[in-house]
Amino acid sequence: MGSSNMHCLTLVIFVCLSTFIPQTEGQCDLPANQRRDCFPWPALSQESCESRGCVYCPDTDGPWCFFDDTVCPSEIPESSRSDCFDEPGASPEACRARGCIWCETETEDIPFCFHDDSVSQGGEFCPDDVPENERVDCLPEIGGSMETCLARGCYWCESGTPNVPWCFMSPLHGYRVSGEVEDTVKGQRVHLRRVNNPSWFGEDVVQVDVDIEYQEDDRLRVKIYDPSEARYEVPLGIPSPDDKATSPLYEIQITESPSFALKIIRISSGETIFDLSHLIFSNQYLQFSAQLSTEKVFGFGETEHETFAHDMDWRTWAMWARDQPVTQGNLYSVHPFFTSIEPSNDMFGCLILNSNAMEVTLTPLPGIQYRTSGGILDLYFFFGPEPEAVISQYTEAVGRPVMTPYWNLGFHLSRYGYNTLDNMKEAVERMRLYDIPHDVQHGDLDYFERNLDFTYDPVRFAGFPDFLHTIRQDGTRFITLLDPFISTGEPSGSYPPYETGMTADVWVKEADGVTNAESMCWPEDSVHYPDYSKESTKQWWIDECVDFHSVLQYDALWIDMNEPASFVTGSVHSCLNNSYNAPIYRPESLLVENCAGEDDGWFCLADKTICLDYTMELGRRYDVHSLYGWSSSEPSLQAAREATGTRSYIITRSTYPGSGKWAGRWLGDNQSAWYSLKTSIIGMMEFNMFGIPFVGADICGYFTEASESLCNRWMQLGAFYTFSRNHNGDSAPQDPGLWPEVGRNSREVLLTRYTLLPYLYTLFHEAHTEGRTVIRPVMHEFINDVSTHAIDEQFLWGPALLISPVLYEFADTVTAYFPDERWYNYYDGNEEANRGEYGVISAPADTIPLHVRGGHVLPTQRPANSTMWSRSNPMGLIVALDDDEASSGSLFWDDGDSIDTFENGLYFLTRFDASLGVLKNEIVHNGYPEASSLSFADVNIWGLSGSPNVMVNGQPWFDFDHDPASQVLRIFNLDLQINELFEISW
Ligand code: NOJ
Repeated sequence: MGSSNMHCLTLVIFVCLSTFIPQTEGQCDLPANQRRDCFPWPALSQESCESRGCVYCPDTDGPWCFFDDTVCPSEIPESSRSDCFDEPGASPEACRARGCIWCETETEDIPFCFHDDSVSQGGEFCPDDVPENERVDCLPEIGGSMETCLARGCYWCESGTPNVPWCFMSPLHGYRVSGEVEDTVKGQRVHLRRVNNPSWFGEDVVQVDVDIEYQEDDRLRVKIYDPSEARYEVPLGIPSPDDKATSPLYEIQITESPSFALKIIRISSGETIFDLSHLIFSNQYLQFSAQLSTEKVFGFGETEHETFAHDMDWRTWAMWARDQPVTQGNLYSVHPFFTSIEPSNDMFGCLILNSNAMEVTLTPLPGIQYRTSGGILDLYFFFGPEPEAVISQYTEAVGRPVMTPYWNLGFHLSRYGYNTLDNMKEAVERMRLYDIPHDVQHGDLDYFERNLDFTYDPVRFAGFPDFLHTIRQDGTRFITLLDPFISTGEPSGSYPPYETGMTADVWVKEADGVTNAESMCWPEDSVHYPDYSKESTKQWWIDECVDFHSVLQYDALWIDMNEPASFVTGSVHSCLNNSYNAPIYRPESLLVENCAGEDDGWFCLADKTICLDYTMELGRRYDVHSLYGWSSSEPSLQAAREATGTRSYIITRSTYPGSGKWAGRWLGDNQSAWYSLKTSIIGMMEFNMFGIPFVGADICGYFTEASESLCNRWMQLGAFYTFSRNHNGDSAPQDPGLWPEVGRNSREVLLTRYTLLPYLYTLFHEAHTEGRTVIRPVMHEFINDVSTHAIDEQFLWGPALLISPVLYEFADTVTAYFPDERWYNYYDGNEEANRGEYGVISAPADTIPLHVRGGHVLPTQRPANSTMWSRSNPMGLIVALDDDEASSGSLFWDDGDSIDTFENGLYFLTRFDASLGVLKNEIVHNGYPEASSLSFADVNIWGLSGSPNVMVNGQPWFDFDHDPASQVLRIFNLDLQINELFEISW
């Protein structure tokens, strides 16, 4: 007996598979053993049976709902039939005995017997042969039920394992290859046809194409799209070469049925590293799943992750830009990019180029299940095989990081809530009191007049321009905040940014494309939002920024709230109830506080932002919402450059792949708490993977009051953020000079940072030109050492400086891992005893453990309390020798402040190589004549055996110290011009 008559659940109506009228008369006489079950699910009713075009006979024998074999019981077009009987001997009976459909036809070469795509596994609701790890969620939306599950033709199996989906896909879901796989000049094209199964969210795209582009030997694109209708594609401009790569590191295998799957194999190891399947492609719901080769997955942002290596226990992360203080949910930026370590310890990266509301579930298969609410599925793979090569290939595709000005690498002080210039002055005075390096002072919203962009409060901040001028003489520059919204409520003629914006028609529009979007944010009146994707807006923004520079002399811009944020859901008059504002599907894991509307779930996408049916030149906000911050960065950099006439810089809150071309990031509104101290390392490493190497958390934390000990440790860790800024919200002050001990310790650790700035700046040059990370996960340098794979409490600057901060209250030691190489204590050059193992390192309150890796030369400079002074001080070299007593490194130098010095050849680049007791330099490029004003004064050689006989340029040199016990040689009083060749031997 078929299972169809055993269940009596709620009515389930399938999407009609056939429009013919069933001819039931006399069919009830059909014996049970000849009835082919048409409804092998619970919840059978006459209506649900007949809606499938089947015969309903509620007798006791055999299935009550069975196919009417007197007519072709299938709507599958002849061209899509997949042969179920390709050997001789086919007959209607033999065909049906296989559970297939028999329909004769006069068309040539079309099988009479073909697979029935509409039926899930015959009668099995909970098959016991699908391991839990392999389940692919069939109810990704909020509030699904068993009825919905079964109506989708999915399996329902309850499970005691937390987070395992109870409703999951059968192998017959998805798409099947239709016709031949075509060869194209760029690779292959595969035509897919949807398996005729019940729809999940309607508007299924029946025919889908997959373009496989072998773009480069190390880059593959798999683009899954609707060939019949253009859909939103993110305009990142990744080049698509005309030819196929000639020696790719990868190959592809396509599975045609029962449903389409695509395997990506690394040729060198033969390993399948990404096995894509379970494709669904409908208008507002798209998904795939992929099995990976290991559970070692990193990336996907932006969110606060507790660990750098992902938790693969069915954790789901949403990606949708949101004005959201730091927590484990979707935050300000969107980065659908991840990397994965393979069993061979090779690494690949994958970008899922989509900007709709999306989420990814990481599963113990190991695998990912990806779901998005629009656009296309456009996947780029980067094959490394080394981790740094993956990031370099990724940034080559999405854009290499912008070069930072030198001063930007100095220390920044900021606060939301100085509220008066006097308070700001006091904080600056405390910096001076302890002589704490202070290159940049920030001005937040509170200095504005009534929260209006391009103003300063004439009472609370009276004399602000003069103050900025004064601190500039001490080497302290100024960065101003700007918000991406302009108040509409100022009296006519009194607020030019609004009026010029109206004239140039620069705003984001409502759905009609005419009415200006209007919502509430910081200003007391409603605001309009600039559409930065529009040419007229770009020019308007540049003009406003240039004008404001003549009022307040800023050096760079800080663009906040560009998710874009709104303090009310949608707009001043809510949103329209349509498929953009209230789509049929939205990712379940999206953070939502306040969905306005009658039904739960309405307008949730507009929570904390403006309506999704609004439009920009870039597209419908439903598609481009998460690109708003990305679109604001290039015009802002251009504006800052035109205003200052210098390289300048942008820090921006909302980023997307490619934002690093124009901007850096602060990690948003975190907590003054020890766990935020720790997770900031993960955030920084992730943004470096995302191609945004200039990044840091708010030192000492944004919300709530920072304790002295937390702030002390945070100033130490923060001295090794690439973006080193103490910033807080409107809570108690926390600048380092507030506590004498923190003041002194901050000064010392920042002087260490400033000593190492030539090395850091050189790393930024390498990020800009080769796309490498600056803040580097330890495993990126030591991938063959599996002990490094999950390290997230230590990190590197480039390849050579290991930072092992104190992250726990009351701790005065750090348990740090030392990969199997020579490591030297930064402070005294002594070799670290631990190698290839963890060691407990002393870290009293005034110390952050730092180690230099053998084999590397680090350029240094005598520090000062501003880069304005330090940049002309004597330089030095740390030469840390490896096991062969060899070492190498480089130094990039330019004026630190002009635009495109590398591109214009206006820079100096030198290499250093030490081996067999001789250190030499090689000038790679000598395009910055002012480099001749700098010389190396000190050279420290660590880890040398024997007694040195020091010679400099062939002459004996006596100004040195040598300690045979610690193997440290310190050569001093040198005067070696940095752009002349030298040779030092020992
Ligand atoms: C939110 C930003 O994340 C924060 O850094 C800033 O202080 C406030 N906005 C006020 O402008």
